[in-house]
Amino acid sequence: MRFGERLIQTGVSFKVEPGTIFAIMGGSGCGKSTLLKHLVGLLPPAKGCVAYHGVDYWAADEATQSELRSGFGMLFQSAALWSSMTILENVCLPLERQGKLDQAQREARAREVLEWVDLAKFADFYPADLSGGMKKRAGLARAIATEPPLLFLDEPSAGLDPISSKRLDNLVLDIRKRTGAAVVFVSHELPSLFAIADDGIFLDADSKTPIAHGSPSTLRDTATHPTVRAFLAREEPPAAPGSPPVSAADSAPGSAPAPAADPVPSAAMPQTASP
Ligand SMILES: Nc1ncnc2c1ncn2[C@@H]1O[C@H](COP(=O)(O)OP(=O)(O)O)[C@@H](O)[C@H]1O
Ligand SMILES: [Mg+2]
Repeated sequence: MRFGERLIQTGVSFKVEPGTIFAIMGGSGCGKSTLLKHLVGLLPPAKGCVAYHGVDYWAADEATQSELRSGFGMLFQSAALWSSMTILENVCLPLERQGKLDQAQREARAREVLEWVDLAKFADFYPADLSGGMKKRAGLARAIATEPPLLFLDEPSAGLDPISSKRLDNLVLDIRKRTGAAVVFVSHELPSLFAIADDGIFLDADSKTPIAHGSPSTLRDTATHPTVRAFLAREEPPAAPGSPPVSAADSAPGSAPAPAADPVPSAAMPQTASP
């Protein structure tokens, strides 16, 4: 993974089994969102391969890529809802793209999914009228509307209060149970990581390479790398050579600086027609 001359991560290698919930972990700026973009077809990696059922996505032709993408649901860090459309219209978008249902069926389906995320009463609202947690849930509804076999979630519970966050975790577990989807998610939220992830990878910004691989709860109990321990067990993080000691509070996952804004939907969703 690199931007021009700047190496972001190297040696990133993992496999996500069907039906697993896989966490991408690591401090701010280590490349988690970038990795998701490599996975969902938004940004080609500088080197390497992203394969789905043995098909190399970035080496495939446009038709194959498009077919693969139709199996992906994505929730962006900022939810990335279309502000000029109602929540219902936003959730209908992937269903339209899928082209299997007529308009009445699409609306019925969108209302059903909004019910799951407890937003049935807000179908006709615009994104600006919803709280942050509600937008996240609306984004999740849009991501799951077609019941994609693969779901990618970028910090689904960041910035939510503990109750909303727990509810979102339960929703993700529910979706997996209902559809058997595999879920790849980025999270800083320890309770979420421990509650829902079966497996995961930990990216390190300093060494620019993954430093741990496994379920967050196993890593919490067994990881020896001080950065992983600091993240998952909230221990004192290692001091960089020559730098003054950092307090645990400074580097606790919850206090990480706000991540950069997501791409605007038009750039971020290659399959979506411009409004
Ligand atoms: N489009 C871009 N061009 C150049 N650098 C970028 C771009 N997007 C992200 N970066 C840089 O790549 C690094 C990883 O970013 P990102 O994947 O957003 O990290 P994370 O999601 O783990 O916080 C950061 O240092 C960020 O500044
Ligand atoms: Mg990010």
